[in-house]
Amino acid sequence: MDWGMKNRLARIIKPEDGRAVMLAVDHGYFLGPTSGLEEPRKTIAPLLPYADSIMLTRGVLRTSVDPNANVPVVLRVSGGTSILKELSNEDITVSIEDAVRLNVSAMALSIFVGSEFEKQTLVSLAKLVDEGERCGIPVLAVTAVGKDMARDARYLGLSCRIAAELGAHVVKTYYCDDFDKVVESCPIPVIIAGGKKTPEIEALELAFNAVQGGAVGVDMGRNIFQSDSPVGMIRAVRAIVHDKISVAEASKIYESTKGTKARRAAG
Ligand code: R5P
Repeated sequence: MDWGMKNRLARIIKPEDGRAVMLAVDHGYFLGPTSGLEEPRKTIAPLLPYADSIMLTRGVLRTSVDPNANVPVVLRVSGGTSILKELSNEDITVSIEDAVRLNVSAMALSIFVGSEFEKQTLVSLAKLVDEGERCGIPVLAVTAVGKDMARDARYLGLSCRIAAELGAHVVKTYYCDDFDKVVESCPIPVIIAGGKKTPEIEALELAFNAVQGGAVGVDMGRNIFQSDSPVGMIRAVRAIVHDKISVAEASKIYESTKGTKARRAAG
């Protein structure tokens, strides 16, 4: 791995502890104005100080993130479909030149193992890895799951391993029972997505269990920006990932931040 690739990866997975907190705000690329992300700039700005990196599309990056914020960017470069159509029908949607121009630290692309356009997405991953290697930009493979597809260790293990075999540098997947087996059989770092909004305590448990199970960190979106206290949640998640605190301690961080906001509003 060359210097540029290593340096960019170090901006995503912190070398001090080998852990990563990524803020996912790329949902609009197929969901449109997702709840909590209607005005991306307003959602993103207060969360940036607590995110090691941010995952988003170039459209939201250019319009809604201050270039002086100096936050490492994981750029979503796959898409081409919407929630109204077959989701797996994705292609690469950003040139490597634009990724370089935007000074991204990694590029993210979804693979849809077992779905209609499986081959197309896997070949896209391989092509993107070739481009990334040429320019020193790591590739994060996202193991996307269709509406009716299982999220068990067997399936997610299959998807993660294929991503690694095709050359991805990091893989993002879902937490599941026997998650440690997914991690053990995957020779690249694994990050977990948060998934649909759940009660805050459950999202904190998810983050805790994932890092206990061997994930290097989280790429969390809805469970942060759809929370009644997005800053409280990202601070709590961050403390689980980097400070290795318990769920109960993390919950106190979330609750205290929420309380501060409520007291201010009452005052
Ligand atoms: C989904 O396709 C996107 O890549 C999201 O970034 C990912 O699912 C993480 O966001 P959330 O925590 O909301 O699931």
